Amino acid sequence: MGERSIFVKTYVPDGWDQSHETVPLRVAREATVIARLGGVGGLRGRLGVPRLVDHVPALGTVATEAVSGTTLDKVLARNGEDCRRAVFLAGKWIQRLQSLRIELADYASYTEIDPDDLIMYCDIRLRALSERGLRWVTRRRTAAILNTVDSLLRASSATSRSRSWCHCDYSPGNIIWDGFKLTPIDFGNARIDLELLDVATFVHRLEMIALVRPWRFWPVRKWADAFVRGYGRPNVSSDPVFQAIAIRLLLCRLLTNVRRVAQNRRQAGHDFWMRACLKRRLIKAVRSVYGVSRQELPS
Ligand SMILES: Nc1ncnc2c1ncn2[C@@H]1O[C@H](COP(=O)(O)OP(=O)(O)OP(=O)(O)O)[C@@H](O)[C@H]1O
Ligand SMILES: [Mg+2]
Repeated sequence: MGERSIFVKTYVPDGWDQSHETVPLRVAREATVIARLGGVGGLRGRLGVPRLVDHVPALGTVATEAVSGTTLDKVLARNGEDCRRAVFLAGKWIQRLQSLRIELADYASYTEIDPDDLIMYCDIRLRALSERGLRWVTRRRTAAILNTVDSLLRASSATSRSRSWCHCDYSPGNIIWDGFKLTPIDFGNARIDLELLDVATFVHRLEMIALVRPWRFWPVRKWADAFVRGYGRPNVSSDPVFQAIAIRLLLCRLLTNVRRVAQNRRQAGHDFWMRACLKRRLIKAVRSVYGVSRQELPS
């Protein structure tokens, strides 16, 4: 029998969303999801699933068989011919994940900072941004952003607000591509959430590639189009729930940026520039809903 390479991940409390209490629960959740993926119809052939080897909640460890290939972020960075095929499959993979059956116990949430409610979720991020000294987050802007999310949700259909199993960190860095098969990994955040969450997250991450490295050309639109076609909803980006989630993702990204301690002046400069871009995008998202003037929502 050939030797298997094993990948062992160890969770450590991080003072933000992982504590000594939540780590064992997350480990158990990740292991359960990976084990159940094996039974999802349609996840076969070019749509791969990681294989669980072992997990020890008390130690915070999850062991999976190593998936051969390269993470999709590196594949996209090369901008080769297979990128569109890979992102198309990434969309298809999410569509299949959404057929994973939900058990009652799956609704248990292990974190207070990630509430189900999108408005509460955004409010927590806005407060955290303000507490970390981002003066841009005024009361007026907070209200405008939360009202926008609220309006989008009100304008949405019940179908768009459906919940399903979500990966919840569906980024190219958490997906492995071997040129034929696409296998998502890292199910540590998986939970029941809005079914458009993974879709919006992946598109957001693609957009961030161009934002983080603007000195190069990235065919982000083409990749995003291929991804949503794979998902089976080519026009999903016009769905109000998708747009509300996009605001949530911009807030998360802004918070990550603000929390990051720059290692040197160049990085500090880049972080500053990124913050400005993210703020502009947030304002644009709010304006596109309200059509408000510059005076009403000063930038
Ligand atoms: N089963 C696997 N097969 C191959 N590589 C893996 C596997 N699991 C993890 N990796 C590699 O280890 C990296 C980190 O793993 P993972 O994403 O599960 O952990 P993480 O702590 O959430 O990391 P991050 O915060 O960077 O997302 C992956 O980007 C990938 O390169
Ligand atoms: Mg990861």
